[in-house]
Amino acid sequence: MANYYVFLGPPGAGKGTQAKVIAEKLHLAHISSGDIFRENLSKKTELGKQAQEYMNRGELVPDGLTIDMIKERLQRPDCADGAILDGFPRTPAQADALAVMLKELHGEVMAVPLITVPDGLILERMSGRVSCRASGHVYHTKYNPPAVAGICDVDGSELYQREDDKAETVQKRIDVYHAQTAPLIEYYSKADLVKEVDGTLEIDQVTGQILSAMKSK
Ligand code: AP5
Repeated sequence: MANYYVFLGPPGAGKGTQAKVIAEKLHLAHISSGDIFRENLSKKTELGKQAQEYMNRGELVPDGLTIDMIKERLQRPDCADGAILDGFPRTPAQADALAVMLKELHGEVMAVPLITVPDGLILERMSGRVSCRASGHVYHTKYNPPAVAGICDVDGSELYQREDDKAETVQKRIDVYHAQTAPLIEYYSKADLVKEVDGTLEIDQVTGQILSAMKSK
């Protein structure tokens, strides 16, 4: 049985930051729907072209496109022992689709760490976020700066600010989270999988809380 973990939380909560560290620590695959879309955008694939307008407006990409993309990703060999899902599912329809996919893969959602941060902190997190072009490593100019400004510590690639981190788009993404993704808290609470984690703590402290949450089933 393969173990899957769904990291939930609003934009800027720290899902990507934590998923990268924990996936490495636990030797699990890290599947970030946002990173896969951004990779397709930069390679100008058909999927990237279809996703771009939704992403730039801060809206969700339609379920059909997103589900097909994740289905393909979950079938790759690195997911055989399980994975951390960061940014997927994001609607109840996606969660239903994930349940079907995992059944076919003989997998199970073991825990759903919910990283909470107040809306007021999100704008500050987004305005200081810089990400690397090569592999999506994430930094914050104030809270988690790279050793050399503008350069990724891990692979030396250029750091850039995401198109959808402009203030007006961030507010739209927060609204979309509350309307379309927050219902997943209830969805997974019914199976007693949701473990709340305080996302306002230091990055290392949040990692510790998530690791405990992942063990607690
Ligand atoms: P996506 O890339 O998934 O964006 P998101 O969920 O809005 O989350 P973010 O990546 O913005 O934030 P995060 O929680 O990962 O925070 P991070 O670790 O970077 O999605 C982008 C778009 O793609 C969507 O709007 C949609 O259009 C589309 N999409 C993606 N998935 C989809 C799906 N399933 N269905 C439909 N559409 C989909 O941290 C943020 C900043 O804070 C960083 O600078 C970091 O260094 C800093 N930070 C992190 N933790 C801390 C801490 N504890 N203290 C201080 N600073 C911290």
